[in-house]
Amino acid sequence: DGHPPFKNDAMIDFTIPECRTAFPAAIAKIRETAGGRIPLFINGKDVQTDDVIPTTNPADYSEKLADVCQAGTAEIDAALEAADTAFQTWRDTPAKERAECLMRAAELARERQYELSAWQVLEIGKQWDQAYHDVGEGIDFLEYYAREMLRLDKPRRMGRAPGEHNQLFYQPKGVAAVISPWNFPFAIAIGMCSAAIVTGNPVVFKPASIASRVGYNLVEIFREAGLPDGVFNYCPGRSSVMGDYLIEHPKVSMICFTGSMEVGLRIQNKASVVQPGQMQCKRVIAEMGGKNAIIIDDDADLDEAVLHVIYSAFAFQGQKCSACSRVIVLDPIYDRFIERLVHACGDIKIGRSENPENYMGPLADVSCQKTVLDYIKIAEEEGTILLKREDIPAEGAYAPLTIVGDIKPEHRIAQEEIFGPVLAVMRASTFDEALDIANGTRFALTGGVFSRSPEHLEQARREFRVGNLYLNRNNTGALVERQPFGGFKMSGVGSKTGGPDYLIQFLDPRVVTENT
Ligand code: SER
Repeated sequence: DGHPPFKNDAMIDFTIPECRTAFPAAIAKIRETAGGRIPLFINGKDVQTDDVIPTTNPADYSEKLADVCQAGTAEIDAALEAADTAFQTWRDTPAKERAECLMRAAELARERQYELSAWQVLEIGKQWDQAYHDVGEGIDFLEYYAREMLRLDKPRRMGRAPGEHNQLFYQPKGVAAVISPWNFPFAIAIGMCSAAIVTGNPVVFKPASIASRVGYNLVEIFREAGLPDGVFNYCPGRSSVMGDYLIEHPKVSMICFTGSMEVGLRIQNKASVVQPGQMQCKRVIAEMGGKNAIIIDDDADLDEAVLHVIYSAFAFQGQKCSACSRVIVLDPIYDRFIERLVHACGDIKIGRSENPENYMGPLADVSCQKTVLDYIKIAEEEGTILLKREDIPAEGAYAPLTIVGDIKPEHRIAQEEIFGPVLAVMRASTFDEALDIANGTRFALTGGVFSRSPEHLEQARREFRVGNLYLNRNNTGALVERQPFGGFKMSGVGSKTGGPDYLIQFLDPRVVTENT
């Protein structure tokens, strides 16, 4: 089909002076346009509403980034109507044309990569490199799903029976509701939206409220990429007003969600109830939480293990579903590992994410901060605090980096997703026991092992039952195509993003048999 093979967007390299100067320039530039009113985008048009929610910088609440218009049920009706109308032509638009829209969108995002990253630095306190790689992942999704659609677009001949011709092919399912999280506000949002769009399913997109200005970046890009009216509709809104309404609406064919387990289960529950006028079973794809563990074997390379555990647990303040929140250490190495980990974490710089010398920044907003502070109290009751960094800015959504020891498998700190910079340390006397502890939660998303023993690494491959297992490296930052991402158990339903089984979920297979 003439496109070069897929290649991941390059990592940012701060030894290149241009990469260092581009960030402050981009941040200054978006600050000039920040603070205004952001409309909804329905059927190719801006739509204003009276109800707005401000979105602010979590490092300094006085910095307003936008007043974001909120969809009510009337706007959701209008968006679903537009999407349904667009479906009638978009479903039969050649896959090649749909794929080319994604490739144009990727090109536009690449041209604006610093600016798009800068919005994340200001709106959710993401560090420069983390923000840049989030946008890079979004670009990768666009490029990868475009190519995947072209691969799936070829009808397949089935069987070899004489006098009979069987052909299998795919058709889009219908209108998709996409509900995205704030922590990868560009990558995950555009990943889910682009998968729906390229497979022929128009989208009603509800971004997370606290990242809805970044969500508007999708409007800016898709509008310029030339999507037909109604194929992409941007509808931020209050969950209490339009959340269930959107999920329960009979015009919705599928719901594509990434976020917490609680919300994911609620969506599956609501979507299973057939509404008057509903013509199809709704499909739910829900990527949910994690309670991810890294095992430190007694022969682990501690120089490596300490660094990678810190990155997995505390990069972007631990606010990744992939983040490490439990480190399970083999008895003989326990004291040495903990001493080095705690020592290294004592030096981590914490402060505003727009200043690149800070390794950690504020949490994404005040409600995230409250949840994490509550869990730190629980940690204090259940275990022994090994480190609690209270030398953090008093203003803004900061929470102390916390490491808690003496955590047992039955503790809440060992079982519940915290989504913040809180790391539980657990002790195991054998590698078998470490695996039991690691597998002993409802979740099965990511995991890691540091070991020099080939037998233990082999055992972990078989028995450490998670969606993404990393041996002797950090367990976040899955790359599109190289590490298709996602878990099972209570970590979600549906197949891995950025992998070869993802788009199939947005399609219904058909077979035509002709007697020849
Ligand atoms: N895909 C991300 C990671 O691997 C999490 O959403 O870190």
